[in-house]
Amino acid sequence: MTPLLQVRELHKRFQVGAWWRRQYQTALSPISFDLEAGQTLAFVGEAGSGRTTLARILTGAQARTGGQILLDGQELTTRNYKQRSRMIRMIFQDPTTSLNPRLRIGEQLEEPLLFNTPMDQESRRAAVETALTRVGLLREHADFYPHMLAHGQRQRIAIARAMMLEPKIIVADEAFTGLDTSIRAQCINLLLSLQKELGLAYVLMSHDLGLVRHVADRVMVMKSGQVVEEGPTRQVFDDPQHEYTRRLLEEQLLRSER
Ligand SMILES: Nc1ncnc2c1ncn2[C@@H]1O[C@H](COP(=O)(O)OP(=O)(O)OP(=O)(O)O)[C@@H](O)[C@H]1O
Ligand SMILES: [Mg+2]
Repeated sequence: MTPLLQVRELHKRFQVGAWWRRQYQTALSPISFDLEAGQTLAFVGEAGSGRTTLARILTGAQARTGGQILLDGQELTTRNYKQRSRMIRMIFQDPTTSLNPRLRIGEQLEEPLLFNTPMDQESRRAAVETALTRVGLLREHADFYPHMLAHGQRQRIAIARAMMLEPKIIVADEAFTGLDTSIRAQCINLLLSLQKELGLAYVLMSHDLGLVRHVADRVMVMKSGQVVEEGPTRQVFDDPQHEYTRRLLEEQLLRSER
């Protein structure tokens, strides 16, 4: 069977410096991986290792320099961007900036349906209610503005919003950094139960190796845009083959002991 997502030799370089002295910086060296429905794939690595760049390319927010991205065996191009944006959604780090402060929650959840589906107002309202209850909120929250919600509730809204178009893949780039421990655990459990219920696949970028160990089926270790090690999470974390992976794990251990 064709994997849900196939990434082949994907790479990205940025042009830096002035136009008269062009220089290029490689943010992503050719990278290849598969992702199956219902699976979680994590990308870990030190700052600047290329994870956000990868997340942005997957969601279509940034162009790639080369390589292939196949969704259900079909190449994603700028021409079928609309289809891509329905199937691959992103959850951002900070719900405060990803939500519009001037729109009610209900309107923000409805927005993707308004632009991407022929649904009428009544079915859009119903879908918003389902989305709210699915993430453990009340239908009354549809009338709230983002500032009227607690931080954890806002991140739930961001999750609900990402789910509105029934995507197949959710990309979460440091989506839980900065949340306090219990809210973070709630959000993660929510994502895990949605994954079970809907068969979603997750691409997770995180500094938090404890979280990665807990949720990811497979992990890819990145350094300066290159994959240095990959495999089933348990195997990589329990028996790291690369010095760099060992260092990341040690640093995490030191941080958690502090
Ligand atoms: N728009 C840009 N123009 C030039 N260089 C960029 C641009 N965006 C990212 N880069 C470079 O690409 C590399 C990878 O950055 P990226 O943000 O993807 O890393 P990251 O793994 O997400 O790091 P972080 O830990 O900061 O989240 C970095 O060296 C960065 O400076
Ligand atoms: Mg990043």
